[in-house]
Amino acid sequence: MNDVLLAQPRQLPRGRFYRVKRAFWSLASTVSLGGLYAGRLCPTWVRVDRLDMPLEGLAEPFVGRKLVHISDLHCSPMVLTRYLRQLLERVAAEQPDVLVVTGDLITGGTAYARRVARLLAAVPARVARVACLGNHDYGIYHPSGRGHMRQLSGYLTDQLHSAGVHVLRNQSLILRVDDHALQLVGVEDAWSDRYDPEAAFAHARQGLPTIGLTHNPDGARDLARRGAHWILAGHTHGNKAGDNLLRDAVLPVESDVYAGGYYPLDDAHLYVNRGLSYARRLNLNRRPEITVFTLKRA
Ligand SMILES: [Fe+2]
Repeated sequence: MNDVLLAQPRQLPRGRFYRVKRAFWSLASTVSLGGLYAGRLCPTWVRVDRLDMPLEGLAEPFVGRKLVHISDLHCSPMVLTRYLRQLLERVAAEQPDVLVVTGDLITGGTAYARRVARLLAAVPARVARVACLGNHDYGIYHPSGRGHMRQLSGYLTDQLHSAGVHVLRNQSLILRVDDHALQLVGVEDAWSDRYDPEAAFAHARQGLPTIGLTHNPDGARDLARRGAHWILAGHTHGNKAGDNLLRDAVLPVESDVYAGGYYPLDDAHLYVNRGLSYARRLNLNRRPEITVFTLKRA
């Protein structure tokens, strides 16, 4: 198990053209995608999907526990904070034992890193809150961050740790209830230059029921091959490759299978959450999703 240490938040210097970029995003949120959605042209009422999560060797104290999975919050000028707060209140109402967030927490700079950490801090979970990072968490303009934005993922990680959220960056974590264990393993985003499933499993314990976290479902088989029984992912926003030309150009997923929902793998199970945010949801028929798993013994 890797130790997840609480680190002190640090400020990042603002990059060149900060005000220009910020103005651009504000304008985009007002007159383009955000404007469309503010006009209620797209459905933003949340769907709550409920599934069992059977795990071999699951210890009795974990049986019947609730794992709530959310993804792609995209906290930014383009997604209203009060909208995210309302949906996270809905998550809290589920009284999760474990809260899992599979990346793209922000589409913005340090202010949104602080904001999303504050929002998640208000969602109680009896056992743990755990996250992995998505491509947008490394920087707005480049999938693995560029210039001063190279530090953004570290800044976000610090903020989340301070808010009581474990961030698994090629790391494993053992959750314990009454001395019994459930293992989570999370990878860095597949597009970042830090994606390393081998490192993520380096300290993982064999034989424990194991849930893998990867933002991009393209990483699911890498985790399954190394021992994850269930893999939780996001990134698709409910679209699969070929559904949406603009999305394919901007956010390609290699597999043309995964859109949203449950997928059986050879020796594992994959669930792709359709995401909470709406501003990147370019199709009109996608709704934000909260997934509630009940842990069961396989
Ligand atoms: Fe996303």
